[in-house]
Amino acid sequence: MSGNLRLLYRFNADVEAVRRDGDRITLDVKDWKPIGFTVPAPAYADAIAALYGVGTTFSQLIEIAAAAGDAAKADAAIRYYAERFSRGRLLVWSLTDDAGELARVDALAQNYLPQQNALPEGDLQLCRFAYLRRLEAGAVLESGLVRARVTLGERGLTALSQSLARGRPAAGDEFAATMWRLGFFSVAGVDEDETRRCWEFQDLLMHETSRHNREAAMVGGTYRFDGKFPSLPAIKPVAAGERIALPAIDPAQVRQASSSVDAVSARRRSVRSYAEAPISLATLSEFLWRVCRTTAHIENKRQDIISRPYPAGGSINELEFYLAVRRCGGLAGAVYHYDSHGHALIALAQTDKIAAKIVDHSAAAMGLEPGAQQPDVTVVIASRLPRLSWKYEGMAYRASLMNAGVVFELMYLVATDMGLAPCANGTGDSRLLQEATGIDPFEETAIAEFVLGMPGAA
Ligand SMILES: Cc1cc2nc3c(=O)[nH]c(=O)nc-3n(C[C@H](O)[C@H](O)[C@H](O)COP(=O)(O)O)c2cc1C
Repeated sequence: MSGNLRLLYRFNADVEAVRRDGDRITLDVKDWKPIGFTVPAPAYADAIAALYGVGTTFSQLIEIAAAAGDAAKADAAIRYYAERFSRGRLLVWSLTDDAGELARVDALAQNYLPQQNALPEGDLQLCRFAYLRRLEAGAVLESGLVRARVTLGERGLTALSQSLARGRPAAGDEFAATMWRLGFFSVAGVDEDETRRCWEFQDLLMHETSRHNREAAMVGGTYRFDGKFPSLPAIKPVAAGERIALPAIDPAQVRQASSSVDAVSARRRSVRSYAEAPISLATLSEFLWRVCRTTAHIENKRQDIISRPYPAGGSINELEFYLAVRRCGGLAGAVYHYDSHGHALIALAQTDKIAAKIVDHSAAAMGLEPGAQQPDVTVVIASRLPRLSWKYEGMAYRASLMNAGVVFELMYLVATDMGLAPCANGTGDSRLLQEATGIDPFEETAIAEFVLGMPGAA
């Protein structure tokens, strides 16, 4: 750094002009009607005008406004105007020293402002929610906790790396102090409160970035890859392997034997004890048919969609279903893909050991004793995420997990209605399905597991 590091406040490029007429200010903002307002004294107008161009520091803004005669009023007024401008995301900041800019700070959401209160005591260090990554614009510092992005030049990166090695006292290290003001550094050794401690880095990042919390980020059905490459088809090409036709289902019979939704949901429980007798192929057939068969395929112009008994975001139906079979009357132990369009199973060759491992993982997730009867089948739910993210930007993984949650509930209800032993699993190992299918996990990956068997004595 080259002396005199300072954070300059200025209007961003959307503010095309700042017009003055005495105490009257008019901001011309791209795509907005002109914003006109009157300030109490010309010195305040001078301060606002100083935000146009290269900008100036917060304390200089107060100094300019203080020419009106009252420093305390000037301080309050500058905070007020900064807050109003931040509502419209009209400000941008530049971290600058005598040799030029080290970093630029862009607000990602309304109401973002650097902290201008007194610096804290103690050492400052990178906040545990902050991270560095590369975008087209260059290296950026971001955080699940901060609705702003710092784009770092080479000198900014050097300054950041020096601050990473050890905590820096807030006093005497303007870079660390500014990073604290921006929200990216926190005070070392200070305990977070209990609720905040419970949030992990990845939980906050996904939560924050996959909802409409940041106006600058696109979240939703933007079809961002339309015209660039085609979506994966709704009907996944059938895998190589022995095809096993599933026993036919008689819908009228299913309907007749089925209890009311109210009765089923009242009865529904997670069951973790299993009978001596294995589940049968006919039972699995009915379960799969009732939960995840394909009921319609619609060839839309942009992306084909399908319907299944459960609802799914955009009807895209990125989920695929696999059975890891430990034992089943009429089926050898192996991993099977469920062809939801043809209501058949495809045996994946030489997967008996992987199937056993998947079921073992489920048993462990359910805390089963090794001597206890183990589950018969784990249904592995896999996501063809690119099908979903072809349309949905910023929220695809969130949507896929939501879809899996919806499937869980239908699985519980159908299994309960059929008198089976159902239990969702909260953890699983995606690598096992990958080993079984050989599919690139970027194309399709396991995201959830659900266990089935016949119930044992209660
Ligand atoms: C998303 C989800 C994940 C779950 N993960 C597990 C798990 O890993 N192991 C387990 O034994 N039960 C798991 N369960 C079952 C819950 O423990 C169970 O639903 C809860 O204790 C309420 O009991 P009930 O289902 O009998 O009403 C899970 C349930 C859900 C919905």
